[in-house]
Amino acid sequence: MRTDTPQPISLADYTPPAFLIDEVHLDFALAANTTRVKAKLTIRRNGDHTGPLVLNGERLKPISVAVDGRVLGDGERTIDAEFLTVPDVPDAFVLETEVEIDPENNKALEGLYMSGGRFCTQCEAEGFRKITWYPDRPDVLSRFTVRIEADKTFRHLLSNGNLMSSGELPGGRHFAVWNDPFPKPAYLFALVGGELDVLEDKLVTMSGRTVDLRIFVDTGMAARAAYAMDALKRSMVWDEQTFGREYDLDLFMIVAVRDFNFGAMENKGLNIFNSSLLLADPATATDMDFERIESVVAHEYFHNWTGDRITCRDWFQLCLKEGLTVFRDQSFSADMRGAAVQRIKDVKALRARQFPEDQGPLAHPVRPSSYLKIDNFYTATIYEKGAEVIRMLKTLIGPEKFREGMDLYFDRWDGHATTVEEFIRCFAEVTGEDLSDFFAWYEQAGTPKVSLKHSYDAGARTLQIDLSQHTAPTPGQPNKRPLPVPVTIGLLDGEGRTLAFERDGKALDQTVVVLDAAQASVTLSGVDAAPVISALRGFSAPVTLTTDAPAKDRYVQLASDPDLFNRWEAGQDLARALIVARAKGAPDEVGEERFAEAMGRALNDQASDPAFKALLLSLPSESDLALAIQPADPAAIHAAREALRTRLSLHLTEDLKRLHIGLQELAEFSPDAASAGRRALRNAALDLLAANPRAEIGELAEGHYRAAANMTDAIGGLSALMLVGGEAYEAALADFFDRWKSEPMVIDKWFALQARDPDESALGRVMGLTAHPAFEQKNPNRLRALVSTFANFNPSRFHDASGAGYRFLADQILVVDSFNPMTAARLVEPLGGWRRYKPELGALMKRELARIAATEGLSKNVYELAAKALAE
Ligand code: TRP
Ligand code: ZN
Repeated sequence: MRTDTPQPISLADYTPPAFLIDEVHLDFALAANTTRVKAKLTIRRNGDHTGPLVLNGERLKPISVAVDGRVLGDGERTIDAEFLTVPDVPDAFVLETEVEIDPENNKALEGLYMSGGRFCTQCEAEGFRKITWYPDRPDVLSRFTVRIEADKTFRHLLSNGNLMSSGELPGGRHFAVWNDPFPKPAYLFALVGGELDVLEDKLVTMSGRTVDLRIFVDTGMAARAAYAMDALKRSMVWDEQTFGREYDLDLFMIVAVRDFNFGAMENKGLNIFNSSLLLADPATATDMDFERIESVVAHEYFHNWTGDRITCRDWFQLCLKEGLTVFRDQSFSADMRGAAVQRIKDVKALRARQFPEDQGPLAHPVRPSSYLKIDNFYTATIYEKGAEVIRMLKTLIGPEKFREGMDLYFDRWDGHATTVEEFIRCFAEVTGEDLSDFFAWYEQAGTPKVSLKHSYDAGARTLQIDLSQHTAPTPGQPNKRPLPVPVTIGLLDGEGRTLAFERDGKALDQTVVVLDAAQASVTLSGVDAAPVISALRGFSAPVTLTTDAPAKDRYVQLASDPDLFNRWEAGQDLARALIVARAKGAPDEVGEERFAEAMGRALNDQASDPAFKALLLSLPSESDLALAIQPADPAAIHAAREALRTRLSLHLTEDLKRLHIGLQELAEFSPDAASAGRRALRNAALDLLAANPRAEIGELAEGHYRAAANMTDAIGGLSALMLVGGEAYEAALADFFDRWKSEPMVIDKWFALQARDPDESALGRVMGLTAHPAFEQKNPNRLRALVSTFANFNPSRFHDASGAGYRFLADQILVVDSFNPMTAARLVEPLGGWRRYKPELGALMKRELARIAATEGLSKNVYELAAKALAE
């Protein structure tokens, strides 16, 4: 076990910066192994702080340090692995430093590194300290001027803001100087240098300014940036119309790089993207890729206001920018693609990633209060639950007050670093309400369990609804308090027609009941018939809801709830109950038949949207189900879920075949939501047919694959063929590789597909693929395609009874940790839930975690997660 246990950082220990920096001048001489960085910082003491100047700096080779033009001797400054300290400095001075760094050997992909022969940077959260000495904290805002010099082979030299000058230099070199007029923290700094192609466009903003838009990509790939460009322009217009936010520089740039730890980064005026989230055309990208590109382009663009113009005081406030910006991108996607389908997808993602986190050893509040490595807190809780909290706020105060509060926030905090308290204060001020109870959503971890009971009085025509809530303890928070939970409720009669009612004398179709104590009751009157209660409409709060309603009510909802989220949810609830019953050894065959019949009717409902039907057909995921059965037995869950899929497949064969034929696309490919919805339904039909694998379906899937005119259908066909297996599958797999071997993003899909294979042979196949010449452990996309997909999306194979799946994952984590801790740490989570699994499996998972935690030289990133997962 390591002896030097790292010390956590606590929110309670926040102190303002001792020094402020008014101006930053950086001068880069780019070279693969010996980049020189000169920094000139105009520094002054903040308030009456005394003491030495302490700047962050890691992996820097010192060249010189000077104060007010005088080079300091060895005795006048100390440099260690983490800091530059100058004990004796005046109240205001100019610090000039020079360091050397080695971008080419930087495989952690933080700071300045090389990807595909180009220089690029990633500074959030604490990467700037690997570039130069600096107060690397988000509350030090400064104006940056950046000079970049390099060989002319690095044709484009980019940084934040506006290009001030550029030109040739002797010796085949050239330079560019950039100035960003907006003060910013160092984590938003960016630099790119290299040969790139550019797609250009323009947009006239609401005040009539023309903004140049440039997307830089691998040479030859400019056409594949067209969809991202279109998404960018729609995002810019949407933010003007929805939030009154206009873009502020004359130039907006995006650069795509293939080696990147996350999805994308909102550097001021120069967003950097993982190329998998930027480049798309019908031949190489699926509809899901198009959808994600649209939302991530919007997300990073929206950060310009929620993140860049207004940033975080400290990293505990991460959700201030991330939760809010996810809320904004989800709202954008809802407007672009349809609110109901978008909401269902967002909730599916929340349940798949955030709910398990919230119920495991890594549970943390939306605003945590301590951490070892902030990189570990870019989690589904901060992002997705953070967005849910904003959504509840809007539900509780209404859209007008929400907008007023946002306007006040932008007005008051523009140009500053601030906190979640100050954000919420804006809404408290515009509503005159005390939102201190609401604030608990930021401070309390865990998913509340809400239960609903009802009693209907036919004589009095009243309906009493009793709600209660309970949140289980999470690490460090043994006692939970009640949270204000908005529960949106509507009523249906037995035929599925909307039942009007009265609440406090007002006639309504729908109402929001706020459960703000452990228990609350509401009485609705004027209820003409025994109602079906449609509760938590639109998933109005991130909770798990149980009700006393009989299954027959769910069937009414599945057929006709006007709230499409709840219509879908009714199907999920029914399926979940049937699968759980079967996994526990008590299958309800009659119920399964009834469910299959109801699904058949829903599929034939001509009024409903194909994208919605595709979502109806997909049963709760195995990891979702694992939360409902504890201790979980992944093999039993897999078998039970497959049994229900097979029954649906048998029962609906004719309907599914009809859909598969009828939805064949004849028109030219279009990535729009309606066309994508038809492809999704057609592929979902094929996937369900393949749940009853036989020669006929194998041929259908193979034909689907061979006839595919786009990547969505190619993957759809190949996935279904995988479920049937055999020669035809192996041949198609080889064909796919051969056809796409020079397209890295498509080859990622080839790895990911095999990692999801439910067949017994999958673990062996996945382990074998790590030796495939195309496997690249150092590229996060390729690594995640195989390893993370297997561990997260193939539960029945990952949880192999021998423990070999766990050992495989742990081995990968340890190797990757030696060069890329941030990415290694993101692989730990699948082992973290060990307590939720049946004891034989849990023990094997725990053993791997212990092996990881005991490894010599482990990074803080992986250590923090492994240690927390093991803690009692
Ligand atoms: N701020 C980025 C976003 O959500 C994500 C991010 C955080 C990131 N840290 C990163 C991206 C490190 C790449 C590498 O938009
Ligand atoms: Zn973000």
